[in-house]
Order: sequence, then C-alpha cells, then structure tokens
Amino acid sequence: MAKGEIRAIIGPNGAGKSTLFNVMTGLLPPDCGQVIFNGARISGLPPHRIIRRGIGRSFQITNIFPRMSVFENVQVALFAMHRKNRDSFSAARKFGGIEEETLFILDEVGLADKTNSPASVLSHGDQKRLEIAISLASRPMLLMLDEPTAGMSRFESRSTVELLKKIAAAQGLTLIFTEHDMDIVFGISHKITVLQQGTVIADGTPEEIRNNPEVKRAYLGEEILD
Ligand SMILES: Nc1ncnc2c1ncn2[C@@H]1O[C@H](COP(=O)(O)OP(=O)(O)O)[C@@H](O)[C@H]1O
Ligand SMILES: [Mg+2]
Repeated sequence: MAKGEIRAIIGPNGAGKSTLFNVMTGLLPPDCGQVIFNGARISGLPPHRIIRRGIGRSFQITNIFPRMSVFENVQVALFAMHRKNRDSFSAARKFGGIEEETLFILDEVGLADKTNSPASVLSHGDQKRLEIAISLASRPMLLMLDEPTAGMSRFESRSTVELLKKIAAAQGLTLIFTEHDMDIVFGISHKITVLQQGTVIADGTPEEIRNNPEVKRAYLGEEILD
C-alpha cells in the first residue's frame, strides 16, 4: 500500500479478511511470508509493539467499555499510549493535555455532544464511531477497520464512511477496511484487493476490479457491476 491510500479488502464470508487483519496486527503469526511496515518487518512482533509502530485497528465485533463514558473510553486509550512513553508528560503537554486531546478526537468523529453518555447507551453507529476514536488515540499512520459499518443503517454507513474519508485526508492517514456494501467500496477506495479462500484473486483500482472477469464470476455477481 502507498502512504495515504484508501484500500478495501473484499471477499465472501470466510475469505480470510479478518484473518489478514489479525496477521497484520500481530494477533496471528503468518505461516509463511512477512508483514513489512514502513520498510521494517513487523511480523513476529507482539500486537502492542505493532500499535506503537503506527498501526491502529478496530475489530469486527464492537470492542468498547460499556459502563464507562464516551469520554473515558478515549481517555483510557490515550493514557495507555502516553504512559508507556518515557516522555509521557511532555507528550501530553504537547497535545495540550490528555483531556483536550480526548475532546479533539471525539470532535473529529462527531461525538463531541455525547462525551458524558455511558458508552452502552449509544446507538450502534455511535459505538462504531467511538471505536474509531479509540483507534485514533494511538495516532496511527495506518488505520485498519474491520467492517466499520456492520449493522448500520444505510444512512449511518454513508455518514461514517464520509467521516473516515475526511479524517484520513486531514491526517494523511492510510486506511484499510473491509466492507460488504459495494457502493461504499467502489465510492471511497483508491485500490481494492479481492480475497477468496485465503488467496488474493485480484488487486487494482476500482475500474480494474469492476472489469475483472474472475472477480465478476467468483464473487461480485455480474449484475452488481454492470
Ligand atoms: N489463509 C488462510 N488459510 C487457512 N485458513 C484461513 C485462511 N484465512 C482464513 N482462514 C480461516 O477461515 C475462517 C474465516 O476467516 P475470516 O478471516 O474470519 O474470514 P472473513 O473475515 O473474510 O469473513 C477462519 O476460521 C480462518 O481461520
Ligand atoms: Mg471478518
């Protein structure tokens, strides 16, 4: 992937999309091959060290602290990041303190008006946005989102994706995501990778994927793309 690229990983259920994410973030070891990030090999490192190299992720299953407030969920993530840095205090000061940074991130994802709500009372879409906020707390260069719009209404999905696009552009983030809605995939991605049974069957621009006969046959269905 190139820096600043938005890439979708698509493929039928069971194709290996989440597994690929797990390999890239150190939760699973690769059987062969390696993961290179910023020119250095990261496969073999534990997940927390991979996060420190600049990869943030969210999970297919929502992963927040339901009893804590929206604010606290992000604050805890920021504390965890800063605490491990030797220069934690200067880092925190640089960001104007963790409180300000928390509010900044919540504002970015559109949750500024819900900071005091317990996370459990948020709508599903807002919980997903909170997860994105938590993954932004590590200031990633690469953000990996596994089905960020799963379970959202069409309207919620659209606005979440617009939000992601905006954040990615504003911060120069590289974004890799999985998604079932092909309108979203083809609308936002610079590049698309198609997985089937653990194998990449196509990789290219939306135009190239749209016109790839194997993709049409294997997965997308001709009617979707014609
Ligand atoms: N490259 C692979 N080789 C063997 N098994 C795989 C591979 N990728 C995924 N699997 C297995 O396939 C199953 C579904 O994979 P998953 O990553 O959850 O698919 P997806 O997220 O695309 O729906 C999991 O049990 C996983 O262990
Ligand atoms: Mg999956």
